[in-house]
Amino acid sequence: MLMDIKSESIVMVIFGAGGDLTWRKLIPALYNLFLDQRLPRQFTVIGIGHHRFNEEDYHRHLKEGVDSSSRRGKPDERIWQEFVSHISFISGEFSDPEMGAVLKRRLEEIDRGGRAASHRIFYLAIPPSQIDAVARQLEQLGLCTDCERERLVVEKPFGRDLKTARELDRLLTGMFAESQIYRIDHYLGKETVQNILAFRFANALFEPIWNRRYIDHVQITVAETVGVEHRGGYYDRAGALRDMMQNHLLQILCLIAMEPPVSFDANEVRNKKVDVLRAISPILPEKVHHVAVRGQYGAGSICGKPASAYRDEPNVAPDSPTETFAALKLYVDNWRWQGVPFYLRTGKCLRAKVSEVVILFRPAPHHPFPSTAAESWQPNRLVIRIQPEEGIVSRIQAKQPGTRMLLGPVDMQFLYRDAFKASPPEAYETLLLDIMRGDATLFMRADQVESAWSVLTPILDVWDSVPPADFPNYPAGEWGPETADMLIAQDGHSWLKPDVRPEEPEEEAS
Ligand code: BG6
Repeated sequence: MLMDIKSESIVMVIFGAGGDLTWRKLIPALYNLFLDQRLPRQFTVIGIGHHRFNEEDYHRHLKEGVDSSSRRGKPDERIWQEFVSHISFISGEFSDPEMGAVLKRRLEEIDRGGRAASHRIFYLAIPPSQIDAVARQLEQLGLCTDCERERLVVEKPFGRDLKTARELDRLLTGMFAESQIYRIDHYLGKETVQNILAFRFANALFEPIWNRRYIDHVQITVAETVGVEHRGGYYDRAGALRDMMQNHLLQILCLIAMEPPVSFDANEVRNKKVDVLRAISPILPEKVHHVAVRGQYGAGSICGKPASAYRDEPNVAPDSPTETFAALKLYVDNWRWQGVPFYLRTGKCLRAKVSEVVILFRPAPHHPFPSTAAESWQPNRLVIRIQPEEGIVSRIQAKQPGTRMLLGPVDMQFLYRDAFKASPPEAYETLLLDIMRGDATLFMRADQVESAWSVLTPILDVWDSVPPADFPNYPAGEWGPETADMLIAQDGHSWLKPDVRPEEPEEEAS
């Protein structure tokens, strides 16, 4: 049963509270929930980090984060002061037993001061290498033992391959119940990602044609214009496959390909999603180069601004073999999707920031029109735009105005901003609220994470053992390496031009 949090007391302990995630995402999300009066009256945030902040400095630091990252812009000073009165900071290393004792005392004080025992959320916004120590310390302190009241939130990356993900799962599930563990994939909190479920299962129109009989292939693109920025230390050990493909893109694929759930129960939805991952055809090592492409950006220019090569970024090895672009062709081996290719691509320093799914339908079986009528005839397509310009566009053929029968493609579109006239919540707002309410639907279960790693581990193994010979192989500001075009061209297809903002005119992507 989901918890009504309004009358509860909730304490969120953030490990890594001086870090970028807390600054850019968590605190702005909590602030927006506060503004919307979605937080319980009694809520407390305890930040833990090794920075030497006193409380005042910490609040000032958080405000800068909200100023620059909140969807609502700079906060009103009076409301901000009220909000930060709920937030405190403890400086130190959590592996230090003294620090654990301080935290425990603080939590007990909060419980004594309230009407009832509080619900506790332990948020690990820390690098993967520190998860082990923090989780063990929580266990030793006897925190996080109450399945009803205590939850652990783990950020990605969850392991770096199947083996390490399993080790991490064994570690965490040895100390905490699976129902207490919330593994975050922030894409699942995005409105438009959730809307894939609404679109597919709340409309009777699409489900009958959502299969191999009518769909020719599917393209999933998550393109970024940013490079690795200040995250070279992490990214150079991860790469596009681990950073984006293993989680965000495979989760989108699951939502597109899953069978209708019987209910919206968290486990029912997650069961249906994990079925998709398990149905993906295993990739044999000798086939990796047929179905997977990697790339790394060299110097170039993005939106008219010069951009440096990946190997010149801070904390990146000058001969780094890490991929900043990956494209895959996958098949989902089941009754619905047999033989339908799913093409996935993601990369940094690409020409535009755009995340979208394109469903390309098979051509109409018979063309009754004269051949001159149909020169620009195109099969139907549906574009699910995740960001920016969130919405859904359906391309159909229409008769062009005039006395002759000439056909041409036209778009029918639904845009979130026009239809709802409200700014949607940030993914982290939705996810934080769900954690507080105990709704795990949008979080990754251990078997989902492991199945996603199973799909990619053969590629990771081959790529690790055969260093790329051609890096850098695309200039910053392009759509990736030519080999990505070849991957899809070998099946007679091409990547569809992503929908980008009108002020950034685009040409065909491939
Ligand atoms: C994160 C990745 O999970 O997602 C980043 O670690 C990436 O490398 C980010 O930039 C993209 O998220 P969004 O919401 O901006 O598309």
